[in-house]
Amino acid sequence: MHPKVAVATLLAFAHICSAIVNITIPPYEPKLARIVPKSLVGISIEMDRWIDWSGPAVGEPNKLVNQLLSNLANYTGQAVPLRVGANSQDRGFLAPEFEVQNLTFPAATALVPQPEASRIGIGRDWYKLSGNFPPYDDFYGSGAQALAHPDIYDYPNPLNPNAGIPGWSAKRYIETWNRAAEGLIKKLNSDVPHGPRFQAGVIADPFNAWIWGIRQALVDGLQDSAAAKYIKTYRSLFNSIACQGSRITRDGIPPASGSLMGRAGVRGNLTKHAEYAEQTNRAGYEYVIGETNSFSLHGVPGVSNTAEAAIWLADYALQAATLGVKELDFHSGRGFAYNLIQPVAYESDTTNMSMPAGIEGGYYGALMVNEFIGLYPEVKIEELPTFNTGVSAYGAWEGGDLRRILVLNSAVYNSTANSTRDYQTIQLIGHKEQKTTVKRFYAPETFSTSGLLWGGQSFETADGKPSDQVTYESLSGTILNVTATEGVLVCFK
Ligand SMILES: *[C@@H]1O[C@H](CO)[C@@H](O)[C@H](O)[C@H]1NC(C)=O
Ligand SMILES: *[C@@H]1O[C@H](CO)[C@@H](O)[C@H](O)[C@H]1NC(C)=O
Ligand SMILES: *[C@@H]1O[C@H](CO)[C@@H](O)[C@H](O)[C@H]1NC(C)=O
Ligand SMILES: *[C@@H]1O[C@H](CO)[C@@H](O)[C@H](O)[C@H]1NC(C)=O
Ligand SMILES: *[C@@H]1O[C@H](CO)[C@@H](O)[C@H](O)[C@H]1NC(C)=O
Ligand SMILES: *[C@@H]1O[C@H](CO)[C@@H](O)[C@H](O)[C@H]1NC(C)=O
Ligand SMILES: *[C@@H]1O[C@H](CO)[C@@H](O)[C@H](O)[C@H]1NC(C)=O
Ligand SMILES: *[C@@H]1O[C@H](CO)[C@@H](O)[C@H](O)[C@H]1NC(C)=O
Repeated sequence: MHPKVAVATLLAFAHICSAIVNITIPPYEPKLARIVPKSLVGISIEMDRWIDWSGPAVGEPNKLVNQLLSNLANYTGQAVPLRVGANSQDRGFLAPEFEVQNLTFPAATALVPQPEASRIGIGRDWYKLSGNFPPYDDFYGSGAQALAHPDIYDYPNPLNPNAGIPGWSAKRYIETWNRAAEGLIKKLNSDVPHGPRFQAGVIADPFNAWIWGIRQALVDGLQDSAAAKYIKTYRSLFNSIACQGSRITRDGIPPASGSLMGRAGVRGNLTKHAEYAEQTNRAGYEYVIGETNSFSLHGVPGVSNTAEAAIWLADYALQAATLGVKELDFHSGRGFAYNLIQPVAYESDTTNMSMPAGIEGGYYGALMVNEFIGLYPEVKIEELPTFNTGVSAYGAWEGGDLRRILVLNSAVYNSTANSTRDYQTIQLIGHKEQKTTVKRFYAPETFSTSGLLWGGQSFETADGKPSDQVTYESLSGTILNVTATEGVLVCFK
């Protein structure tokens, strides 16, 4: 071949190659693949809004919430974990003179249009409301409904002098925890056949100091009490992905559309959790990110409640699973921009915002994750490298065979700014000839809050049941396109 022609061919080839993202299908289950927990995606509910979720009275469930939770549970065969508590729990008091509860709220502000209650009176039926959920739901939290997994706290926060009890420290937390747990064991042992399953380590750390992980807790005496043998889970709390960024940054500018999703941010925010998960698993406990979500102060409207949140949530949760995280509980309240589910419709007098009951963007991320996880008893997960900063991919193995791949494209699409919608062509290297279907998460634009579809189905329905029939494409060959802000589940039969 003439040298010039060779060079020209090479350049042309290089150009084509740079447009294609290769995903290699490993011939065997990778050594580092881990079992992906069925209940990876959980919901952490502010205690003051418990009845929004449970329904107002015993025997009067919130049917919409139950349907939306069942949709998610249906993919994995296991309940969506509900953790009831959060920081409003520190302001909860028994108030048996009330049937259900008595709440006192501080004034709303434009920045926090739906503040959490400053005082919560826990009435007689408050715990019994957990009976309103489908029977397979799993509960965590304080009190009687959570006998199986008590969660004891006022959580100490070393760096925020305005939070918690003055003089409170990690060591005092552990001492208090031990005392409370021992007391509970005495009360519970006769009721819970195999003993309670405690969770410990509910320590808030909003300023990324990362000083109170399992190491410190063990040094401070976490295993000193008779309760220690019942500890199953260690929880890390309060990690909004960009705590420093928050809903309005210091310079007053909210994070822009497109700034949440993306490989770098997701992995950067999980680095410390990876370290903690490793240490916690090594100590023999499950590691749970017990309260997390996108941007602090309840999320950024236009980002946290959009299609982008779905791509982000799927990447964040599955990446966490590859790092040994057992569960992530996505923080939710009433009217929060980052809720997966808005349990009730609400209006804010402060901002004039109103939101119907139903789902928000992140819910589709949970659908993608749970369908990826599936029903098979022990599904293993590993990330599939893509060598592209805008595309993540994860594989799901069943009994050693790769059964599904989820591909997420975190490029932005804004129909006003972009004349065409960007897409990535993916080549599945090593894909054998076999029946293969493709299911897509579609969004009109990155910042869309409605019109989102999972396999052609909308979950934006009045009763929470998916609209229409599921649509699958069949994949012939080894090439597929994944457009900007799209998630694609490839299933091998
Ligand atoms: C993708 O795989 C093909 C082989 O099918 C290879 O020729 C090409 O160099 C790879 N591209 C990249 C960007 O790795
Ligand atoms: C779960 O999903 C399957 C398939 O989409 C459907 O046939 C079944 O009725 C669902 N079950 C429940 C309990 O929703
Ligand atoms: C509810 O509690 C507040 C104190 O936090 C009290 O002022 C109010 O009267 C209580 N409501 C009722 C109906 O007792
Ligand atoms: C966390 O994620 C946000 C949003 O993607 C990003 O801006 C921030 O830099 C990330 N933090 C770290 C420590 O990587
Ligand atoms: C909300 O609407 C009222 C009445 O239209 C108006 O006076 C007020 O300024 C609005 N508040 C905000 C934050 O837009
Ligand atoms: C979409 O692009 C237009 C034109 O550049 C811009 O004005 C608008 O702010 C963008 N929308 C979002 C949500 O970023
Ligand atoms: C699409 O528009 C966004 C701004 O909204 C820009 O960041 C991005 O580079 C554009 N993508 C393409 C492929 O033009
Ligand atoms: C990918 O998209 C491009 C541009 O629309 C198209 O030419 C190509 O045929 C598509 N490939 C597949 C496998 O759909």
